[in-house]
Amino acid sequence: MVRRIVVAFLGLGCAFSAPAFADADLLGKAKQFFTPIPTTPPELPGNPATPAKVELGKDLYFDPRLSASHSISCASCHNLGLGGADAQPTSIGHHWQRGGRNAPTVLNAVFNLAQFWDGRAKDLEEQAGGPVVNPIEMASQEVDAVGLLKTIPGYRDAFAAAFPGEAAPVSLANAQKAIAVFEATLITPNAPFDRFLKGDAKALSPVEKEGLALFLDKGCANCHNGVNIGGGMYAKFGIALKPGPEFLPPDDKGRAKVTKSQDDEDAFKVPTLRNIALTAPYFHTGKEWDLRKAVALMGATQIGEQLSEDDINKITAFLGSLTGEQPKVTYPVLPPSASTTPQPTP
Ligand code: HEC
Ligand code: HEC
Repeated sequence: MVRRIVVAFLGLGCAFSAPAFADADLLGKAKQFFTPIPTTPPELPGNPATPAKVELGKDLYFDPRLSASHSISCASCHNLGLGGADAQPTSIGHHWQRGGRNAPTVLNAVFNLAQFWDGRAKDLEEQAGGPVVNPIEMASQEVDAVGLLKTIPGYRDAFAAAFPGEAAPVSLANAQKAIAVFEATLITPNAPFDRFLKGDAKALSPVEKEGLALFLDKGCANCHNGVNIGGGMYAKFGIALKPGPEFLPPDDKGRAKVTKSQDDEDAFKVPTLRNIALTAPYFHTGKEWDLRKAVALMGATQIGEQLSEDDINKITAFLGSLTGEQPKVTYPVLPPSASTTPQPTP
């Protein structure tokens, strides 16, 4: 009889054991900083998604004929098999030219406060116009890109279906709208960390939980927070200690170029850490290939702390729990060119 009571008591004790309390505490703190990725794409203001528009946006995203050489598409530098990035320090564009900055992921970009490392485009729609006409990216002229699309019967139909009732639906502005609604579908919900945030204490391993606790306690979450664990603000790279010129080349002053304010020198959009394990190399220069070293550099430059190997390992383990379900995108069969479609320029 006595033994049975003891057993029952122990059983109860288990249900409210120390780890459970610790988990609840950690979850409570985490919820103050982070929110899970929604499971359905967000609506874009003034640009409602329809199946026809998303499909058109997908075609355009994958279509290399938008580039002068007909060989570079959005997907060249934002490869959906590479976490929405390109696994290059800086991207290779028209005539094998390299740009000055690392290609950020398009995955979950819809949740960023603005686009580009310096936030110079206010949203995805504005951003999507840039690369097509950028001479070192896709190097087309607007009139040529639109002229080309107009020669392709399948595109004429697709734009008309996506923008019903418009007199001249084939335009760069509409292409940007369509690409933006497609990009809004490129979200990665249900990462282990999202499941943890939604109350599944077992979704994170003990070491990932320790990493999360460190990420909060050390102050990483003061900048990397919200739904994207980043993407919500600008911050100076080198608050505590200025990184070397390989990470912070003196000719790229970041946000200051947009705001013309000295206060914004060396400030960049705090990048999302979603799917970070898939998107090496890191930083706006793409100069760090090792996520552990990126974490160590952040410790030194942003919080003024030499993190221990153990802390670095735990934080890196936590960052691994931010890899979500990758979008399942069926590769499109693009509308074929007509005899009048311009040919690639050398
Ligand atoms: C030649 C490579 C290249 C091509 C092609 C390219 N991009 Fe990019 N993309 C980049 C680079 C590099 C940046 C960062 C530039 C910067 O911040 O100044 C970027 C930034 C972005 C961003 C901002 C993400 C963020 O978090 O700030 C989005 C969104 C994006 N590109 C979408 C597209 C779309 C859509 C296309 C096709 C119309 C495209 N890109 C074509 C290289 C490329
Ligand atoms: C004061 C704001 C701030 C704090 C605090 C901060 N970061 Fe960052 N983090 C940034 C900025 C800004 C960048 C982009 C730097 C650049 O390349 O220009 C960045 C970049 C990163 C990157 C590279 C992301 C990529 O896609 O290239 C990682 C990883 C990272 N931070 C992790 C951490 C960790 C871990 C901590 C805590 C030890 C931390 N950060 C603390 C602002 C911050």
